[in-house]
Amino acid sequence: MKIDILTLFPDSFSYLDSSIIARAKTKGLLEVNITNIRDFSSDKHKKCDDYPFGGGAGMLMMIQPLYDAIKSVKKRNSTLIFPSPRGKVFDHSDAKILAKEKHLVFICGHYEGVDERLFELFDIKQFSIGDYVLTGGELPSMVMIDSIARQVKGVISEDSLSEESFSSGALEYPQYTRPAVFKKKAVPQVLLSGNHQEIARWRKEMSKKITETNRPDLLKK
Ligand code: ADE
Repeated sequence: MKIDILTLFPDSFSYLDSSIIARAKTKGLLEVNITNIRDFSSDKHKKCDDYPFGGGAGMLMMIQPLYDAIKSVKKRNSTLIFPSPRGKVFDHSDAKILAKEKHLVFICGHYEGVDERLFELFDIKQFSIGDYVLTGGELPSMVMIDSIARQVKGVISEDSLSEESFSSGALEYPQYTRPAVFKKKAVPQVLLSGNHQEIARWRKEMSKKITETNRPDLLKK
């Protein structure tokens, strides 16, 4: 999968150089290119923001640098994504669907927003990562890229994906590793029993309890 990121803050993406995402890039499963939108400004001072017509607080990202930056990376099979609190709330199923795409382009807004004509000129999917407002699209893009990349075939093991939260519509059960007792806290006996049927039953029960407590809405789906 190829991912292009268009941003005014290229340095904020250093997280993608670490951990599983970095390994996926080394393995050739993922290619990530970061483009500075400012490089496309036709203004002599490389200006990318301006005041909103009609007045109002703050500055907007201008359409020209955005338009040219998108044109420089977009292909026929590209899926364009714009993180925004106005978008559909991004979830596990969106990550799985987007992981099957060949080319994703993340367009990061900043300041008070972007010139709305962006959404008339291009077919763009808008996603929110939750009901709160962030200062720009950089963090939401990284959140989505992390969640999509781990669903790309070969990035992490199929077993890890099938057992995790949301994969079955419920939250994941608790897990433990050695030592079996720490500060007088023992691991649940059933996990040491070797009885795989009982372990599976316990995990399902715990998963249900945690989901009922923290996310009852998931059980209704
Ligand atoms: N940009 C600002 N806030 C955001 C949010 N909650 N989700 C996605 N993009 C955003």
